[in-house]
Amino acid sequence: MWDVIVIGAGAAGMMAAAHAGQKGARVLVLDHAEQPGRKILISGGGRCNFTNIKADWRYYRSENPHFCRSALARYRPQDFLALVEAHKISWHEKEDGQLFCDESARQIVTMLEAECRAAHVRFQLGCVVRDVAHDGHVFAVETVQGVLQARAVILATGGLALPKLGATDFSLRIAQRFGLRVVAPAPALVPFCLAEAQPELAGVSLPVTVSLMGRKKPCFTGGMVFTHRGVSGPAILQISSWWERGEAVRLNLLPGRDVYEMMRTISQKRPKAHAAALVEALPARLARYLIHGRMDGRPLAEQPAKSVRVLANYVADWTIRPSSTEGYAKAEVMRGGVDTRDLSSQTMEARSVPGLYIVGEAVDVTGWLGGYNFQWAWASGAAAGQAA
Ligand code: FDA
Repeated sequence: MWDVIVIGAGAAGMMAAAHAGQKGARVLVLDHAEQPGRKILISGGGRCNFTNIKADWRYYRSENPHFCRSALARYRPQDFLALVEAHKISWHEKEDGQLFCDESARQIVTMLEAECRAAHVRFQLGCVVRDVAHDGHVFAVETVQGVLQARAVILATGGLALPKLGATDFSLRIAQRFGLRVVAPAPALVPFCLAEAQPELAGVSLPVTVSLMGRKKPCFTGGMVFTHRGVSGPAILQISSWWERGEAVRLNLLPGRDVYEMMRTISQKRPKAHAAALVEALPARLARYLIHGRMDGRPLAEQPAKSVRVLANYVADWTIRPSSTEGYAKAEVMRGGVDTRDLSSQTMEARSVPGLYIVGEAVDVTGWLGGYNFQWAWASGAAAGQAA
């Protein structure tokens, strides 16, 4: 009989296991993969953006935005950073509070394994878990290698993003079977597909401000890149976490600039300049695409003010209608998940099933791009591990 069985040897699961073990619990971690922390290994381009020093509840999407407050306040980015430094892993801040390993994401996995080892946590990898049941006293975890018993179970199998790495809906299914509600999952931090993709623009990148129509949703300024199927880049990935099917997306292609004034100034200073002068501010291929069919060959100074305004509006408020996202295959995370109304924000324990905990991406808490999702995994894992 184990004190705690953690299902999922990913970011949140290993954190939970180490914390439970440090408290003296006998802990077993199960995973169907042959090695732990596979998403950590490929994260941040192989350098793992392991936290964001700004991480607090405002950088997360959830049906209950305040749910993550408690865990994030009790296990802060500084706490994870202290662990990283204790393991002598050198790191750097890239931008906007995003912290990365100098060398390799593998160092983070090695660190978590070492923390687990020091806390006498046992691992059973390559172990397919079939089911979890509870008889009112103990949990029975059914695996292909037999049934294991535990006083507490921590579900840490993450979300559905990147199925080729073995992502499953296991935690959601088990939570539902125990009567917990689930907020509909969807791919998030994911590129958009456009019905009228512009292959001639593929590879063009620029900074943009991106927002969604008519609703109080965040707006993001950052990079965007045209792909063969649509658009991607940090600003697009961010807004995708709030996007609903059918919704239009607004783009300002020259954030912080008054495009109409800019074109007027150009035409006053250089009366012979054409609209193509936009290439001074925009990538040439994109400028040509925007001008095509909207202005004739006359210089800007000779164009009717209305045409200049139409082009300026187009640049400052270009509306695209994604037909879909690129789905879980290309998503960085899943949004939605186990409904936070059914969990304790202090411990991640299911309110109606004492001893059952859910952590990490499986919970309806989705971070912005930039280290926030790992910080949620560490914080929710630590909260559950200490409580279990
Ligand atoms: P995680 O996915 O880490 O772990 C789940 C574990 O459960 C896995 O080991 C899996 O094998 C196991 N499992 C699944 N189903 C199972 C089953 N049925 N039975 C047994 N085991 C099962 N975030 C960030 O903050 N900074 C970053 O740099 C990146 N970069 C990044 C890159 C890419 C390509 C992706 C896809 C994602 C990121 N992320 C990220 C997101 C981050 O990886 C993610 O949010 C966390 O890993 C979630 O941690 P969890 O522990 O919840 O799940």
